[in-house]
Amino acid sequence: MVSNPQNCDASTLYEQVANRIRSLIQEGTLRPGDRVPSVRKLHQQFSVSISTVLEAYRLLEDQGWIGARPQSGYYIKPLSNRAEPKTTVALHRDFPVEVSLAFRMSSEMRDPQNTGLGHAFPGIELLPIASLNRIANRIVREHPTALHAYNAPNGSEVLRHEVARRSIEAGCMFSSNDLVITNGATEAIHLALRAVTQPGDVVAIESPTYYGFLEILESLHLKALEITTEPKDGISLDHLEFALKHCKVAACLIVSNFSNPLGSCMSDHKKQQLVELLNQYDVPLIEDDVYGELSFSNHRPKAIKAFDTEKRVLYCASISKTLSPGLRVGWCAAGQYLVKVEQLKMAMNWTTAIVPQLTVAEFLSKGGCERHLRRIRRAYQTQILRMRQAVCDYFPIETCVTQPSGGQVLWLEFPIEFDVMKLYQVALQHRISVAPGIMFSPTGAYRNCVRLNCGLPWSTHLERAMYTLGHLCKQQLQ
Ligand SMILES: Cc1ncc(COP(=O)(O)O)c(C=O)c1O
Repeated sequence: MVSNPQNCDASTLYEQVANRIRSLIQEGTLRPGDRVPSVRKLHQQFSVSISTVLEAYRLLEDQGWIGARPQSGYYIKPLSNRAEPKTTVALHRDFPVEVSLAFRMSSEMRDPQNTGLGHAFPGIELLPIASLNRIANRIVREHPTALHAYNAPNGSEVLRHEVARRSIEAGCMFSSNDLVITNGATEAIHLALRAVTQPGDVVAIESPTYYGFLEILESLHLKALEITTEPKDGISLDHLEFALKHCKVAACLIVSNFSNPLGSCMSDHKKQQLVELLNQYDVPLIEDDVYGELSFSNHRPKAIKAFDTEKRVLYCASISKTLSPGLRVGWCAAGQYLVKVEQLKMAMNWTTAIVPQLTVAEFLSKGGCERHLRRIRRAYQTQILRMRQAVCDYFPIETCVTQPSGGQVLWLEFPIEFDVMKLYQVALQHRISVAPGIMFSPTGAYRNCVRLNCGLPWSTHLERAMYTLGHLCKQQLQ
């Protein structure tokens, strides 16, 4: 019998065979241009009749997944494609940040009645909830006072040890004493910014940038200086250097790997150059690496911190995109600003709750973590592929869409006359939430762009939502 992970309700055998082949394509095992396994091979492998395999191939051909070449068999068809958005254009002026609109939209996006394409949340079914719950229950049973005791401001030694061990893969050589455990990456970034800036200072950011950063900048009365960013390779070093030359920049804040919202990932060479440039201008870098573990290849990209020769990089990350956003466990390796970050953590909320820390430490120390990460990476890759394909199938022909090699979001760019706020409003009426481009800029740029969350497993419901969204975009552009 053929295993059928994608569609449990397929009624006939040939549909099950077709589903199996289709998931091999979606997972990237079979790639565009590859020859589909021969009819005879599948007949043997799946123990089904030749006519069942032929029927399955006909179905896949009808659905556009494969095509026949005369006397040569069936091949995987190229996925229909779209151009990628161009390098962003940013303003060389610093702006005070005002995020009330983003705050309002962010709460609308959380409405569970809506199909959630707005927030960059992982699908709950992708998280290792049962294992984490089991570990947490046992910890509470075995250490009944743990829930109620204060803990050291820099957090649990066991968790810091596990984080330090895992960070070797990102090229970082931390000792557990280099780390401060925080309430998610958000608190780590907040503390890092407070450690290196004063109210009124200017912080250089990617453009577009994660709107959560804008909320933090605003709360600290900092100004944002948007720097041109390339969808593939991240922040433009030429533009950053220009800004450093002409403006007093107190810090630089960027997402190094599979950024949000562009999905960009800097090369090692560029990471090294960035560190050298910031050393030259004596500017600290706050690096957010929450997506670093979500590469679609087997290769986990290095952190910028791996190239930090002067301890000037404040490295921030968390488990929110891989294990659990709700446990609120993150960390900061603040280099030369470590003591300052520890003091600020203590002043802010003394410490992070201990049971989530011990739970995460135990999960990270077990072999199951690697298996879970492999599964979640594959799932995100498939989901991004399906969402991208739906953009190609249902959205206006002029739509440009990013092609990230990791992470969980897509960034779409429409012609300049497009008004994403109109799309946002009308999509909400259809119970679909999206993140309008203007949330990602303090200057209200990107009114013709939208970010889509790809954290949810693909389903017919999601396909319908993408079809509706595409239709709404076409209507607006007509
Ligand atoms: C780039 C980036 N940093 C940080 C966060 C938030 O991380 P945490 O939940 O660990 O505070 C997000 C969430 O979407 C994000 O996209």
